[in-house]
Amino acid sequence: MDLKAFIRRLPKAELHLHIEGSLEPEMMFDLARRNGVILPYASVEETREAYAFSDLQSFLDIYYAGAAVLIHERDFYELAMAYFRRAQADGVVHAELFFDPQTHTARGVAFETVLAGLERAGQDALAQLGVSSRLILCFLRHLSEADAFAILEQARPHRHRIHGVGLDSSEQGHPPAKFERVFACCHDLGLRLVAHAGEEGPPSYVWEALDRLRIERIDHGVRATEDPELVARLVRERIPLTVCPLSNIKLRVFPDMAQHNLKHMLDRGLCVTLNSDDPAYFGGYIGQNFLEIAQALNLSRNDLVTLARNSLHASFVTHAERAPWLVELEAVAGQD
Ligand code: ADE
Ligand code: ZN
Repeated sequence: MDLKAFIRRLPKAELHLHIEGSLEPEMMFDLARRNGVILPYASVEETREAYAFSDLQSFLDIYYAGAAVLIHERDFYELAMAYFRRAQADGVVHAELFFDPQTHTARGVAFETVLAGLERAGQDALAQLGVSSRLILCFLRHLSEADAFAILEQARPHRHRIHGVGLDSSEQGHPPAKFERVFACCHDLGLRLVAHAGEEGPPSYVWEALDRLRIERIDHGVRATEDPELVARLVRERIPLTVCPLSNIKLRVFPDMAQHNLKHMLDRGLCVTLNSDDPAYFGGYIGQNFLEIAQALNLSRNDLVTLARNSLHASFVTHAERAPWLVELEAVAGQD
């Protein structure tokens, strides 16, 4: 079996995917036309050319501007369905989708509109594509604690429709501790907790996310390897890391794929998973992330199986949901 087919056949969970980051320029233009939104680009080609980022902030500025075309329930539904179709084609059996409600409520789009569109897509993805999913509400860390509490109040009546909360946006200068009280409240509501940490920020942000936010998974976390004590703890406590190689290269966390520390993390015994982050902006979906890192780091088929297995174990599904995927994974692993 060739490498691409092997990757596709591995049942995997995608655990780090910003649904707004799956907005392809073609859909951005279609929605802009339909909704009467003026874009700062003249064409799809010009849009893609603008995706030359120097760091996280240079990406975020363009990402938030692109999300302005999303207005109606149907827009969020179509966005998520397009993602689920691509994910299924890559062998994703389960996806935990991040969404950024503050980006939309700030423009006058109701929280309920966003949630309804994403939820309906999740139901149709399961029924039509066999892909299961969960929704994770992310707080924008460049905004205030009061803003985070305000969106949590809007989410509270919909508590049962949201599986967890996360923390994203500009990392530097916005340490996890800024949201300690918000996360304590989310913990009391029974929400699952994750946070971006150690993408551009230092290892101390990863410690803070663990100790003060009580998170269960670290999003990115690649800078954790700068602190051996932190690595030892992550290994000991089996804290999963949702690593996104194409994102890391596009945002210049590493100069090129050959210098990515994923293999080092795997060899150190960390529970690493592979994900796409913002695939429309970073050059590919989860299959492309597997392929490019496998080629650049000469990963073995066993490494790829480990990455897929980690993703299934790190997902927030029940044992009963996970069991058949693990059986299928071991069957594929045995055929390589
Ligand atoms: N929002 C979307 N993608 C992100 C990333 N990679 N880091 C922080 N916030 C984000
Ligand atoms: Zn992210």
